[in-house]
Amino acid sequence: SVLEMEAEQINKGKYEHYMQKEIHEQAESLTTTMRGRLIRGGSCKAKSVLLGGLKDHLKTIRRSRRIVFVGCGTSYNAALAARPILEELSGIPVTMEIASDLLDRQGPIYREDTAIFVSQSGETADTFQALEYALENGALCVGITNTVGSGIARNTHCGVHINAGCEIGVASTKAYTSQIVVMTMLALAIGGDSINGQARREAIIDGLFDLPNKVKEVLKLDLEMKELAKLLVSEQSLLAFGRGYNYATALEGALKVKEVALMHSEGMLAGEMKHGPLALVDENLPIFVIATRDACFSKQQSVIQQLHARKGRLIVMCGKGDAQSVCVGGSCRVIEVPLVEDCLQPVINIIPLQLLAYHLTVLRGYNVDQPRNLAKSVTTP
Ligand code: AGP
Repeated sequence: SVLEMEAEQINKGKYEHYMQKEIHEQAESLTTTMRGRLIRGGSCKAKSVLLGGLKDHLKTIRRSRRIVFVGCGTSYNAALAARPILEELSGIPVTMEIASDLLDRQGPIYREDTAIFVSQSGETADTFQALEYALENGALCVGITNTVGSGIARNTHCGVHINAGCEIGVASTKAYTSQIVVMTMLALAIGGDSINGQARREAIIDGLFDLPNKVKEVLKLDLEMKELAKLLVSEQSLLAFGRGYNYATALEGALKVKEVALMHSEGMLAGEMKHGPLALVDENLPIFVIATRDACFSKQQSVIQQLHARKGRLIVMCGKGDAQSVCVGGSCRVIEVPLVEDCLQPVINIIPLQLLAYHLTVLRGYNVDQPRNLAKSVTTP
């Protein structure tokens, strides 16, 4: 029954912390997120996506002049991860708004806009106020939340539930990966069924079906990440460089490390490295570089070379078997992850960083599930 399912989620079972449990249950939470929404296709039927809560609004969304993503913290990062695929499949410009900043600027929102509000709790005050603001300005408002009946779910015109199951740890983990998957399905739904993009869409759908298996595989890095956490436990600071689909991975990995392990950490756009951050590089500061294979791969290879030239202390995340191709010009520690369709790679890549943040927190002796000064949902602006 639903009650039994909920009771099971509130139980930590074999895990010591909710964050740990929620990291490890991501193969299952992603399966629930996708359940009933992917159509396998057949001899005369194309593979496709079915999002019940959106189907009456897809035409309007396709006609909109711009799509605006609005969220805070991890939910913002999830939208950032999905932005490239939404732009690619819809051909509509997609802009990003941190909810509080949109309100601070009273940024322009038009009737021709589709505004998508992303929130695990559905109750974040900043995101809710931004929703009220977008409603006043006449935009079509779409909600992506994990909480049925929440303020954001009730007040948007339409939406998609994340269905990741109850998330208890203050640090968002399984909601993040499920949000990316929901927004990728949204991109597929908005992209429609043009012949042009069909092979690409089918490859993504196949990738979605296989994603839970790949998540199980990447979770096997747990011990390796614990060892890495032991090495980094007394550091003052960490940097993470990503780009393209994985700019979000750098931001989200750094957010996890700062919010639970209470260690200063910054995620940065690798393309900005030479415009300032490079000055920070020396033999001591640990730097993560995300260099899994996608259209930006060769650019990340040259970023790694430049960091080597500055004697940077590198930890490189790359695809299985790619260690040799990424670590040219110096030595680095490598984290090898399973490769998936490029737009789904952020789902895989964040998991080792979630594990790292978790182990760093335990080793440093901090409260994993309730970091100091933070609340699960920020209900006051
Ligand atoms: C995530 O680990 C943080 N606790 C925080 O950034 C959170 O994602 C943010 O407050 C937004 O919450 P929401 O998704 O419930 O709106």
